[in-house]
Amino acid sequence: MKTATIHVSVNQQIHISEVPVQQTLLSYLRDSLNLTATKTGCNGGECGACMVLLNEEPVNSCMVLAVECDGQQVDTLEGLNQSPLMKILQEAFHEQGAVQCGFCTPGMLISSYSYLLANATPNEEEIKNALSGNLCRCSGYQVIIRSVQQAARMAEEGDV
Ligand code: FES
Ligand code: FES
Repeated sequence: MKTATIHVSVNQQIHISEVPVQQTLLSYLRDSLNLTATKTGCNGGECGACMVLLNEEPVNSCMVLAVECDGQQVDTLEGLNQSPLMKILQEAFHEQGAVQCGFCTPGMLISSYSYLLANATPNEEEIKNALSGNLCRCSGYQVIIRSVQQAARMAEEGDV
């Protein structure tokens, strides 16, 4: 099996790892670094359960090879948990009852977080578009959208 050495910043920590060249970023995070907040869903770029930030942009980590992350910055929910904006998003998801089985939740939070950084006062349509790459098999879309709206209000009111 062909391998390569990568230097990657994950949640502000530098990791130097020998990885199979075919290993996905998703597998690297979960299986090599034991960062299991990132979920494995379709493994084909369709569901958003595996979403992380790569250089501050949301990506489906099942569609990125670990070797492509050499020299790059990756942030997962474990690292973003410390961010005030992520904390209010989690509070809003909790208050609105937006977590059912919870499988989609990490990806939803990453997408919402990234979108709210870009657009602090989104309307409902904009939130729907921002989350269009994230599937919820429990069909909890309405409460998820309400959660993001609540988080945006809280952030605007200075709770962040
Ligand atoms: S597991 Fe990556 S998009 Fe579904
Ligand atoms: S809460 Fe179950 S998949 Fe979304």
